[in-house]
Amino acid sequence: MADNRRGFSDLAEEITELKKKRNAVILAHLYQRPEVQDIADFTGDSLGLSQEAAQTDADVIVFCGVHFMAETAAILSPRKTVLLPESNAGCPMADMVTADALREKKKEFPDAVVVCYVNSSADVKAESDICCTSANAVKVVKSIPEHNRIIFVPDKNLGHYVGLQTGREIIYWPGYCNTHDKLTVSDIQKAKNAHPGAVVMVHPECRPEVVALADEVFSTSGMIKFANDNGGREYIIGTEIGILHQLQRRCPDKKFFMASNKLICPNMKATTLEKVKWALQEMHPRITVPEAVREKALGAVKRMIAVK
Ligand code: 13P
Ligand code: SF4
Repeated sequence: MADNRRGFSDLAEEITELKKKRNAVILAHLYQRPEVQDIADFTGDSLGLSQEAAQTDADVIVFCGVHFMAETAAILSPRKTVLLPESNAGCPMADMVTADALREKKKEFPDAVVVCYVNSSADVKAESDICCTSANAVKVVKSIPEHNRIIFVPDKNLGHYVGLQTGREIIYWPGYCNTHDKLTVSDIQKAKNAHPGAVVMVHPECRPEVVALADEVFSTSGMIKFANDNGGREYIIGTEIGILHQLQRRCPDKKFFMASNKLICPNMKATTLEKVKWALQEMHPRITVPEAVREKALGAVKRMIAVK
């Protein structure tokens, strides 16, 4: 453990040097390994990270997350170099919808507005009217005129949650996150029995029957903000385990219990400090989006960012 920490701090120093040399900014999602979150200039949820990617004046964005996140940064900042330290870090849910399949669905419902969860490819965003993240999905859907039906891709669970919150007619896509899908009603019941009185917070990517048992439903940054502002002492967490690092760091006097030990996203754990260093050294792997796709996808992302 001590050796590991020394290794991490040596690597962190080298990364800081390389970052200066490249005029780079490091963005890390809250599911990343703790040591990767610790070297980031900014940690956050998908919405916060895309806002940060849009604002930064760095030349290089190192995205410690998964492919669609780096792609979103490349959509927003075409003149910047966007690096994804582990090129194989994808999101299985994002792969559950393709632009071709979405085009077919649009033919079936020509009057519907297409809302795509940010966990989707640039090609799918380019076929969509507006993007959303888990933090703003309800607001985004509320911003769409009442008479429009909505095709929501690819997460059926988030789509279901948004439908309940807004009362809108939603045409779901059968996608789901295979990490959040592992959380069951029985896991929540066991956690509640073990920690009576703890506040249950889950991510809207969880199954509807799990969401129904939760006290609060938030994006990852939403959970951190709530734990920080709320008077509770104990929390049961229904999202990927990486979030514990910031929860414990920002609320050292509170206790956080994972609702299940199965909540690990292997893609989010694929980025290591070694890979971040290597990416900055080699300026590789780069994520780019063909200009014709980028322009169309940018419309959907910008419309999302404009929703207040
Ligand atoms: P947020 O951080 O936006 O809540 O998203 C969770 C997620 O699953 C990202 O892959
Ligand atoms: Fe995709 Fe789920 Fe991993 Fe998020 S946690 S990157 S939605 S597989």
